[in-house]
Amino acid sequence: MKKILTIFVSAFFLVGMLAIASPQNNMHAKEKTTEIKLAHNQPTEHPVHKSLKIFKERLEKKSQGKIKVSIYPNGQLGSEREAIEMTQTNAIQMTKVSASALESFSPSYSLFSMPYLFESQENFRHVMKKPKVQDAFFNSTGDKGFLGITFYDAGVRNIYTKNKEIKDNSDLKGVKIRVQPSKTSVDLIKSLGGTPTPMDYGEVYTAMQSGVIDAAENNETSLTTNSHGEVAKNYYYTEHAIVPDILIMNKETFDGLTKQQQKWLKDAAAYSTEKHEVIWDKEVKKAKKTAKEKLGVEFHKVDKSSFKKASESLREEFRETPDTKDDYKLIEKEEQRYEESQKDH
Ligand code: GCU
Repeated sequence: MKKILTIFVSAFFLVGMLAIASPQNNMHAKEKTTEIKLAHNQPTEHPVHKSLKIFKERLEKKSQGKIKVSIYPNGQLGSEREAIEMTQTNAIQMTKVSASALESFSPSYSLFSMPYLFESQENFRHVMKKPKVQDAFFNSTGDKGFLGITFYDAGVRNIYTKNKEIKDNSDLKGVKIRVQPSKTSVDLIKSLGGTPTPMDYGEVYTAMQSGVIDAAENNETSLTTNSHGEVAKNYYYTEHAIVPDILIMNKETFDGLTKQQQKWLKDAAAYSTEKHEVIWDKEVKKAKKTAKEKLGVEFHKVDKSSFKKASESLREEFRETPDTKDDYKLIEKEEQRYEESQKDH
């Protein structure tokens, strides 16, 4: 009898302790304050920092301070890859990185570095907000310990050079172009006819100044907020990729929030994505003006069709690869749907 009682009492305590320790326990999650460290690699003047601040303020207000977000800008906690790894291990809880940096954690993300995935920035913004599209990408890293929460427009990527003049893709022959450290970014520049040199974003300025690279490719804010326009004086509208920034979060921390807190977090993120589009457009205009007037950067049109044609076989590869073909189809379908709906207006 005594033995049965001992077993019963032990089991009772064990169940009780498990309930208290469980991160899923709603009561417990409601009580505690969750501290979120959020890292990114842009300076505080950059539009994405402003939008992340909107996310922080909204979430802290909604949760009445039960969720606190501390933002670490400027890559002070490490490169994008390091920040992703820290998010995986919960050393930090969130980071904002380029989708290209996520490619080695989930092949789905490689699609964004593929040249000319989207026809326009407007299409991109529309398609990326579709829940089906977000689910396909954002949940694809669950087994890696983190989830996508929202995306931010990081503009259209174009090629900028120190001296080299570019009219069509044949002019890229032998030109050393910095790319993000991702396989598809390397393949992208190869397909366009240039010589890719992968390196972290923080190294681009010095590499261009010292002649390690002749060119880079990015949106217009790189010329000003990252000072690349001090060394690169020609900006060419190849419009070869629209690579979103992705806000990711440690899965365990997300799962440990109450359902209500998860909703607040998602809503605050979606709200900051909307606001970001307005901020982005304004800041790109401002960056172009400053680059032209203060840094003497010239902006040029190119024969975009030659770049598009040159990269057709790479798109074919992505259309057939088992890892990417379904997501590619999904994006194409949503893009077509959107274009058709626009025709009716
Ligand atoms: C964009 C993006 C950054 C990324 C950078 C790069 O600016 O927003 O997150 O690091 O491109 O080319 O590395």
